[in-house]
Amino acid sequence: MADNPTSQSESSPNLNEIHDFLIEIAFKAGDIITNALPNTDPGSKKNSADLVTEYDRAVEDMVSAALKEKYPTYQFHGEESYDPNRPLTDEPTFVIDPIDGTINFVHGFPHACISLGFTVKRTPVVGVVFNPSSRTLYSAIHGQGAFLNRTQRLPLKGTDIEPLSGLQNALISIEWGSDRKGKNWETKIRTFEKLGQDKEDGGAMVRAFRSMGSAALNICAVAEGTLDLYWEGGCWAWDVCAGWVILKEAGGIIVDGNPDGWEPTVDGRSYLAVRASPEGAGQKELVREFWSNIQGRLEY
Ligand code: IPD
Repeated sequence: MADNPTSQSESSPNLNEIHDFLIEIAFKAGDIITNALPNTDPGSKKNSADLVTEYDRAVEDMVSAALKEKYPTYQFHGEESYDPNRPLTDEPTFVIDPIDGTINFVHGFPHACISLGFTVKRTPVVGVVFNPSSRTLYSAIHGQGAFLNRTQRLPLKGTDIEPLSGLQNALISIEWGSDRKGKNWETKIRTFEKLGQDKEDGGAMVRAFRSMGSAALNICAVAEGTLDLYWEGGCWAWDVCAGWVILKEAGGIIVDGNPDGWEPTVDGRSYLAVRASPEGAGQKELVREFWSNIQGRLEY
């Protein structure tokens, strides 16, 4: 029998309890973020486009202490305490980004969130994403649907959501990421150009791009159905884990950011998310159309 991450046994994690606890933590993190006065000259990690603030660390410390106290046997995989020698495993694991959209946070642009995911056998099964500026909460449990502010089921239009009808009619989220040179940068820039270009000149002429600066909120917008697609290479498991289950529970799909990657992994670092459509119509076609426009290959 195939491994089912949520098959029940006496020692199975209680996903509903974890979901409710993650929401409690998200609201506490939201208070830290809302009351913060970020330094306009924050620390950088890899370069001046890869920022970290004292608040990223403070939120992660709070989250990790709370989770370790309540769930001492589960693993913890957080952005600020990440150790490359300790990759994601099959063990039940909290996968956490304390502030996703750190650049927005530093600039006071009200589009950042805390992203709290939980994986079993490396499959996201609980996700909570909270933007404290707009008080927007997205959450999902594997098999139980996805919700906005706990009550409104996603996608927002429900079964009235329009069928997908090709890149030409799509609103697409893309991000530059923080690597601004090298092959991945070239691939992204040439792909953006191809996607945007007029069909007469060989492009896909997508309707428009949006670049809002938070992978987790991008995926949640695809789950809502307010964005049609989101493509990115270079982000990490903690950027996408919570959004992953929210999107899937909303009827969306997530595949690899590179062609033919129908079975992506949460730590695969390149992703393409597609919104729900009635009976899934057009989702795979849109994936294939997108992949056919990628100029090169994302490699991490
Ligand atoms: C970043 C954001 C951004 C994405 C980067 C991420 P951070 O996360 O999600 O939108 O383009 O790839 O690293 O640094 O704000 O947590």
